[in-house]
Amino acid sequence: MTKIAPSILSADFSRLGIEIQDVERGGADYIHVDVMDGHFVPNITIGPLIVESIRPHTELPLDVHLMIENPDHYIPAFAEAGASFITVHQETCPHLHRTIQLIKDNGAKAGVVINPATPAEMIRDILNEVDLVLLMTVNPGFGGQTFISEVVKKIEQVAEWREKRQLLFEIEVDGGINGDTAKLCTNAGADVLVAGSAVFKQADRKQAIREIVQAAGK
Ligand code: DX5
Ligand code: ZN
Repeated sequence: MTKIAPSILSADFSRLGIEIQDVERGGADYIHVDVMDGHFVPNITIGPLIVESIRPHTELPLDVHLMIENPDHYIPAFAEAGASFITVHQETCPHLHRTIQLIKDNGAKAGVVINPATPAEMIRDILNEVDLVLLMTVNPGFGGQTFISEVVKKIEQVAEWREKRQLLFEIEVDGGINGDTAKLCTNAGADVLVAGSAVFKQADRKQAIREIVQAAGK
């Protein structure tokens, strides 16, 4: 069954606890938290303090997507704040094995993510070590961008490696996911769909989640 991870980037930050409970009641599987530093991506968002303050408001896993340089400096703080998954960009990690190990040593599940222009080969040798592979379907930095369809081939490639090597990580996609693009991703092998504007910018979040899941068809 396809999982949905609403991205709080498109929520109303003045009432974050209520927004999160709304999507939890609406059938969300994870809460996706976008952390941006104004260096790796041209936007600044959330730090460990916000993760810590939302943690008591939901039972769902917090899926923390770090779009930051030097993630090693901040992984312990995000784990301590209650992150369930911590996902780092391959593009920011010169010593990727070490960073993935650091996430696990801090008690969180470890994810790796690549931008649309980064080839799947860049993460092929870390796949044995991760719980989650996130494939960006937009360039990270903002909600509400258009899905980049070239990434679909990459989802297929990663899903093929997973099957051949009998690995168990989840494949997640992030950016421009809606009723039209969801099926392209799940057909290619994606298990978890991040959706920001397609959920939080809709008045009825339960209905919005149901529509994406139905469109995903799995
Ligand atoms: C983009 C973020 C996404 C973003 C997705 O940099 O990583 O998680 O919130 O937003 P939508 O679903 O609106 O494209
Ligand atoms: Zn994200």
